[in-house]
Amino acid sequence: MRSAIYPGSFDPVTLGHWDLIQRAAKLVDRLVVAVLHNPTKNPAFSVDERVAMLEELTASLPHVEVTSFHGLLVDFAKSHNAQVIVRGVRAFSDFEYEFQMALMNRKLAPDLETVFLMPKEKYSAVSSRLVREIGGMGGNLADLVPDILRSRIADRLLTDLHG
Ligand code: PNS
Repeated sequence: MRSAIYPGSFDPVTLGHWDLIQRAAKLVDRLVVAVLHNPTKNPAFSVDERVAMLEELTASLPHVEVTSFHGLLVDFAKSHNAQVIVRGVRAFSDFEYEFQMALMNRKLAPDLETVFLMPKEKYSAVSSRLVREIGGMGGNLADLVPDILRSRIADRLLTDLHG
């Protein structure tokens, strides 16, 4: 069985992430979307909220699981018997960071392959950081985050800014 991990912060999940999940899900028997518990970041959404939103989004894809993880990605991948890490690259600017991570993960776990997928061109400028900024200022999140999550994400980001 071919299993892949799609790790990330997903703070919050964007249409770019969703596009990538659907592409990756077609390539493997089991896809684990894994939200990182990152104590150094101050997130807009708790890990549980991010997992819940991803679960709702992927409910129609039975071979996609959503979970969270602490620690090294390679250890998490091994504990889930995954052979592949999936990451998205939107533009060359993503590449340097992704390349470093892929090579470092390969040094730590030589049997684990990182596979890069490109989201649709129209999502190349979409990022969680910009979603947080636009949402925090009351901007329109259509075409940036999935419709079924849009009002929840927008309400939260506005509340964060205005109390
Ligand atoms: O969505 P992001 O924030 O770009 O995702 C980054 C993520 C979660 C893939 C990366 O920070 C990660 O894998 N963290 C786990 C800790 C780890 O394994 N670090 C060594 C990477 S070489």
